[in-house]
Amino acid sequence: MKKFKLTLLLLSLGFFTYAQNSGIKSSVENVEGKVDSVLNLMTLEEKVGQMVQYNGSWDLTGPASGSDNKQKEERLKKGLVGSMLNVLSVEAVEKAQRLNMENSRLKIPLMFGYDVIHGYKTIFPVPLGETASWDLEAMEESARIAALESVAEGVNWTFSPMIDVSRDARWGRIMEGSGEDPYLTSKVAVAKVNGYQGEDLSDPKTIAATAKHFAGYGLAEGGKDYNAVNIGTNELHNVVLPPFEAAANAGVATFMNSFNTIDNIPATGSETLQREILKGAWNWNGFVVSDWGSITEMIPHGFARDKVHAAEIAVKAGSDMDMEGGAYEAGLEKLVKEGKVDEKLIDDAVRRILRVKFKMGLFEDPYRYTNSNLKDEVPYDEHRATARDIAKKSIVLLKNENDLLPISNSVAKIAVIGPLADDKDTPIGNWRAQGEKNSAVSVLEGLKNAVDASNEITYAKGVTLGQGERSFLFPLDINETDRSGIPEAVEKARNAELVVMVLGEDAFQSGEGRSQANIGLAGLQMELLKEVHQVNQNIVLVLINGRPLEITWAAENIPAIVEAWQLGTESGNAIADVLLGKYNPSGKLPVSFPRAVGQEPLYYNRKNTGRPYSPEHVTYSHYTDIENGPLYPFGYGLSYTTFEYAEPELSASEISGDGSARLSVAVTNTGEVKGKEIVQFYLRDLVASAARPVKELKGFEMLELEPGETKTAEFIIDSETLQFYTADGKWEAEEGEFELMVGPDSEDLQQVKLNYSK
Ligand code: BGC
Repeated sequence: MKKFKLTLLLLSLGFFTYAQNSGIKSSVENVEGKVDSVLNLMTLEEKVGQMVQYNGSWDLTGPASGSDNKQKEERLKKGLVGSMLNVLSVEAVEKAQRLNMENSRLKIPLMFGYDVIHGYKTIFPVPLGETASWDLEAMEESARIAALESVAEGVNWTFSPMIDVSRDARWGRIMEGSGEDPYLTSKVAVAKVNGYQGEDLSDPKTIAATAKHFAGYGLAEGGKDYNAVNIGTNELHNVVLPPFEAAANAGVATFMNSFNTIDNIPATGSETLQREILKGAWNWNGFVVSDWGSITEMIPHGFARDKVHAAEIAVKAGSDMDMEGGAYEAGLEKLVKEGKVDEKLIDDAVRRILRVKFKMGLFEDPYRYTNSNLKDEVPYDEHRATARDIAKKSIVLLKNENDLLPISNSVAKIAVIGPLADDKDTPIGNWRAQGEKNSAVSVLEGLKNAVDASNEITYAKGVTLGQGERSFLFPLDINETDRSGIPEAVEKARNAELVVMVLGEDAFQSGEGRSQANIGLAGLQMELLKEVHQVNQNIVLVLINGRPLEITWAAENIPAIVEAWQLGTESGNAIADVLLGKYNPSGKLPVSFPRAVGQEPLYYNRKNTGRPYSPEHVTYSHYTDIENGPLYPFGYGLSYTTFEYAEPELSASEISGDGSARLSVAVTNTGEVKGKEIVQFYLRDLVASAARPVKELKGFEMLELEPGETKTAEFIIDSETLQFYTADGKWEAEEGEFELMVGPDSEDLQQVKLNYSK
């Protein structure tokens, strides 16, 4: 206790004068001097302790049981743990912090991390769905709310945002990121970091964020989780790294590395990624936490002989903290003593960890995030209202033949059918933090809340999707045999004027470890859909899912399709808002929807190839058994109104050096209701030192238009807009011709040309 008091005294006397700015915004002053002064007091054992993270799933409110837990508790008391994860209540966090603060020699406070991915208690749409809103302010707001609800439970660090660009719908974790585009994902990354960390990381209503998984994890071969990633340096820099650099520049406090190998080197052991790029070229000064056990996983990768060897590789590569892997604990001290690891590397890692802790204000008050009164101040009701607002903005209208939607007041009899129609759990999605089981508003409930007494709503489940125990860790048991509910559903459909069919994926069908070789409507859902379709074709198909699905039959046969993702707590109310026209849908897809799973990985910003098209021969780049291209492209989404784009105008057809040009396009709402349109700007570098994508998103603007109203979207183009990671390994704009494209989605575009010279 004495030493801690001494440290506090020195701090309050302004003893530490050396200040250094870092990207992490914090009002705590003179952080660098303070970090050094603490580091100077530490033994090697204590330094290594800071680099260890424990899972806190044992009972912290009583004595630890089991030798492993007993040992963990002892190490906590000795100050040999840097942080914990999954400790989930103000009481439990305070208890763990006290064990550390009241018993350890130097009293260095712990951080408490948790996967707060799309909300803590109030659950927002899964990140892929939320990105479909293209509403950066909304995404920042949901992160701010998640931060507040987290600290109210003692959690002060989230392992979010996940900003892995992913182009493969088979990958279960595609639900956790922002889809296939590096530019859009970069924008979301910044919004999320700002939302979680706010203006001042030491504000006890903010939490530290984590940019993960560094790097390449989303491009796993075959879309199979944890699989090898085989991409070259140019692709890595142009596609994978931009969102991470954006997060680093936004001052994200921590990074998490990833499970995969990239070009056969495990990311966790990659010096290039962590030391050269992240901490070198980007000059970022937060700390890197490993993914769960990813340091020891270098053993099965065939990259490390044992835990000690794994620790040596990871620390040299720049992994600063070992999440539950036991490698640093087992190896680091020994490695330093044997001269295999320079203590300077340990100092660098510890300095980074202490820096974040200082910036969080933990040294000023280790209990600043354990305010048991905060929970009473959290406006959970307001958070629900915001969750509904963001959920409705995330919905994408995929098809609306004959204006079947919005549902007209004259439709008196509606049958709501499907395994997910009254499912109150699936909309909470995977990675649900403390979102309670069955706590979402179902579609059935949402519709009943919204319609008036003159509408009759009937309901039939038809078939069950996932049966038995559903959990984060085990595979879902899909019902393939029980058809007993189908006749009732068909009967109800026959007697209704309109059918709302709610199909898709169970919450635990996407997420970690849940890659699928098939991405159609699982189980007996297609059978149910076809049988209902035989008796009533007036169907609105509402999809609830965490990944793009193969819905080609539905796209051809069902008149209206609404992509409603897993929208969180207020899901059913938000869906009802859209179905009944109280909100005019404005979402656009952040990921391509395939015609068939065999097209995956599928993404709009592909390369042209040397054989893009040949009308006469078969020998060009395509599949012979299917129409090329997506079913629904990136950026696509309809509205209840229509928008007309005028011809784009470019202020100058040539720019040079630091010059710029303005691309503008006037958009008119030509329909009868107010609506929002996300105007998208893409470009193509026609000839470059490395093959460039056929188009890539470089800007977007949301216009809100009254019927008949016209507004203009504007995009400024300068050398920064045109630059890419060249064959020479530099970010720069190369001279030559560029195609600039604007429009409502990545396929429906008008084009102008621009010439750039240096
Ligand atoms: C996941 C991470 C997560 C960590 C801690 C890992 O399995 O890959 O994204 O943050 O577990 O829960």
